[in-house]
Amino acid sequence: MAQESASKMDKIVALCRRRAFIFQSSEIYGGINGFWDYGPLGTELKRNLKNAWWKDIVQCPPAGPDGEILDMVGLDSTIIMNRRVWEASGHASGFNDPMVDDRETKQRFRADHLFGLFIDAAGAASEGTEIPVVTMIASTAGEALEVFETNGRKWLKEAGAAMKIASCGPDGIVLDHRGAPVKAALAPVDGALLRRAADRVPSPFTQKTGVLTEPRQFNLMFKTFVGALQDEDSMAYLRPETAQGIFANFRNVTDTCRVKVPFGMAQIGKAFRNEVTPRNFTFRSREFEQMEIEFFIHPQSAEQWYSWWRESRFAWWQSIGLTSSNLQMRSHDRDELAHYAKLGAGTSDIEYRFPFTAPGFGELEGVAHRTDFDLRQHAEYSGLGDKLKYFDQEKNERYFPHVIEPSAGADRGTLALICEAYHDDPARPSGVVMKFHPRMAPIKAAIFPLVDKDGMPEIAGNLFRDLRRTWNVQMDVKQNIGKRYARMDEVGTPFCFTIDTQTLTDQTLTVRYRDTLAQERIGIDRVRAFLADKIGEN
Ligand code: GAP
Repeated sequence: MAQESASKMDKIVALCRRRAFIFQSSEIYGGINGFWDYGPLGTELKRNLKNAWWKDIVQCPPAGPDGEILDMVGLDSTIIMNRRVWEASGHASGFNDPMVDDRETKQRFRADHLFGLFIDAAGAASEGTEIPVVTMIASTAGEALEVFETNGRKWLKEAGAAMKIASCGPDGIVLDHRGAPVKAALAPVDGALLRRAADRVPSPFTQKTGVLTEPRQFNLMFKTFVGALQDEDSMAYLRPETAQGIFANFRNVTDTCRVKVPFGMAQIGKAFRNEVTPRNFTFRSREFEQMEIEFFIHPQSAEQWYSWWRESRFAWWQSIGLTSSNLQMRSHDRDELAHYAKLGAGTSDIEYRFPFTAPGFGELEGVAHRTDFDLRQHAEYSGLGDKLKYFDQEKNERYFPHVIEPSAGADRGTLALICEAYHDDPARPSGVVMKFHPRMAPIKAAIFPLVDKDGMPEIAGNLFRDLRRTWNVQMDVKQNIGKRYARMDEVGTPFCFTIDTQTLTDQTLTVRYRDTLAQERIGIDRVRAFLADKIGEN
């Protein structure tokens, strides 16, 4: 399974490059780790995703749990903000990952990605000076590492490349490097143990002891300088999330936009995190785009809004094509919750089974009840205090609203659309077909004159010029028709219209359906209505 998924991912990455979806950033200079560029088709795909989100969230939002259409407004705040924002949000001090380096191999990994097989007893790990660690496994395969729990103990289910020194059988039993079952609990190695005994814990890469550093904090925010001087005072951060731009503008918007709780503010924009181990194509990047909603509610309605947003966001991802069993909703365990969510209704992740996480899942969007943590923090740090509270005129009540935050990644979303669309099909000349949902497809339709003569290019050209006012369509006159279909299959164009000899006499053309390969004839004058019906006009 893991091998099959790896080769599928290799094929997807190759297709993304070949057909101009995604390139490595600065490729001509050897690239830069954790940064990706979108080529012409990838740009269209990602833009379709963001436009659909903006349309369905800001411009044409659905009705909420009370049957009323949601009150939503958009925002476009800056990437660099006053540093105090990040002190208030907790990012300046708390946005840290404890990192451990292997001094010999220079490999770096997150301390909380280190798991140990404690052969004798899991509980003994934290006691005394005796270190009962027998085997260490670092989750070098990242999201491929899946831990499940039975009888209160954690076990490793599938760990891909992480299983250099141990593997697991089909029933999930951990095997040692000789393939013998190990009756042992697998547990995260806590930071305290590593600090006490870093020199006795074997490196997950080489199994040598004495080569690991103690866990060290590593702030994920990128720094830069504002103005001519490059000193401590002029230092600023690139935002690690778009959310804080919304909280910082809460007062501006409530003062100027006639919004009333419950209402939401939404923003799409770049975020930057100096991820220690960027990997899995665009999944964990250092520069990425978020699509975030901060939905402000009365504290007493938190449970109701939290469950409504969970369902609504899950249904939205399904509506744009992630319909298969590859999508799942997962509620966080209490001990996983972010500091701000500990007291709230909960946090859930909408997860997608990417080929590199399979059989596990990777996060696509988080839906969190952030309580009133952020607004209270900004009230305190800005000195505005109660002035940042919301005032309900009807009830004569002043309070800090609670927040439900559905926070999605546009790059992970785009990658999920690509993975979902990818289908090997040896029966087609292209060998592969991308079955994008028509609303997401980068090219909506292709127009082919069968031959480059007899007036066919002129008819095709007229149709092309008309359709492109509404949709991204392409006209292609080169090569034989089979090759042209193959090109469109590979980039996931749902419909191809071919103008042939019959068109010259009866003004009909052939429509070819990408998914079924069915063909039918319709009048040229019906093409616009056909596309509006199948795709819509946005
Ligand atoms: N404001 C809350 C917040 O930022 P998060 O779970 O850290 O929460 C939200 O990020 C979403 O942003 C994730 O679900 C994911 O889709 C995306 N994301 C986070 N880190 C990312 C990274 N390094 N590369 C690509 N996308 C990322």
